[in-house]
Amino acid sequence: MTKLQHIPVLAGEVIQYLITDRSGTYLDGTCGLGGHSELILKELSEDGKLICLDRDVEMLEGAKERLHDSRVEFHHSSYDEASTIPSIHPGTLAGILLDLGICSAQLDDDDRGFSYRHDTPLDMRFDRSGGRTAIEYLNSVTEEELVSALRSHADIRNAGKYVRRVIARRDEGRMRTVGDLVSCVEDLFPKRSKNQFTARFLQAIRIEVNDELGRLDNALPLLVDLLKPGGRLAVISYHSQEDRRVKRFFRHSSRNSGYPPEIEASMKGKHTALNSITRRAVKATARELSQNPRSRSARLRVAERSSAS
Ligand SMILES: C[S@@+](CC[C@H](N)C(=O)[O-])C[C@H]1O[C@@H](n2cnc3c(N)ncnc32)[C@H](O)[C@@H]1O
Repeated sequence: MTKLQHIPVLAGEVIQYLITDRSGTYLDGTCGLGGHSELILKELSEDGKLICLDRDVEMLEGAKERLHDSRVEFHHSSYDEASTIPSIHPGTLAGILLDLGICSAQLDDDDRGFSYRHDTPLDMRFDRSGGRTAIEYLNSVTEEELVSALRSHADIRNAGKYVRRVIARRDEGRMRTVGDLVSCVEDLFPKRSKNQFTARFLQAIRIEVNDELGRLDNALPLLVDLLKPGGRLAVISYHSQEDRRVKRFFRHSSRNSGYPPEIEASMKGKHTALNSITRRAVKATARELSQNPRSRSARLRVAERSSAS
């Protein structure tokens, strides 16, 4: 594995919006290598506390090495299971951060299958202790499902022509590595933006393998319940499907009109009101963009649990 590195995005903005109580308890639901966590800890007083979660044990180990602090605790867990952590109680958290998606360190890792730069087995799981790998996903997916994933998660139009190639190769039993996947479709990719297109193509599969959108939908109302009145939920998204979900959730909850219909059904009428703090998504400044190209697609939205709820 190459040296672990990741620059936290929108760092100043996250701290400015998230920290309202220096002695409160905060949750970093996607702690990665602990970049944002380190900044949060710097803001907290001696009485403050930070709970860090990640689905990826390797990232969590990196964060543990970085953050030696008695105020922090680590759990190998998905953020949609945060309410099962014994030290987390409903209505108590001062702030929650979700910095969605993938760390640069995971992309750079040469045995995870996340990047077209390394021809390694198609794994792509954040949590390698269970669940299906990208190979297993590709071996069982239907043509329609894969077309829908590429359209929805990577904005790829005419997805059918790529999918037919992928399915044909899979049916020949020759779909094992990232190279196997990319080489069977890359001659169809736009020449000028081939690298970005390849990255988007792989991103769509990673999102499916890890059920990233499903987990986000499940988590939003559950996380809001963990906030104390006035506590804040900050979410950084990296693609339009994620950001749309967060925006819709905040907008519905702010209007006090319940959650979006697809979430409302699972909440059986239970509803916690929020107030949106960011009117529009916060984006990286030109300065940050020049220092960290990864921040280009980052969108931060923040909402506060209403004091009345
Ligand atoms: C963009 S990185 C976070 C980087 C971190 N903020 C930092 O500054 O180092 C996203 C992290 O979220 C983790 N992750 C993705 N889905 C998750 C989930 N459902 N629950 C917990 N962690 C998740 C990934 O493993 C990855 O480490």
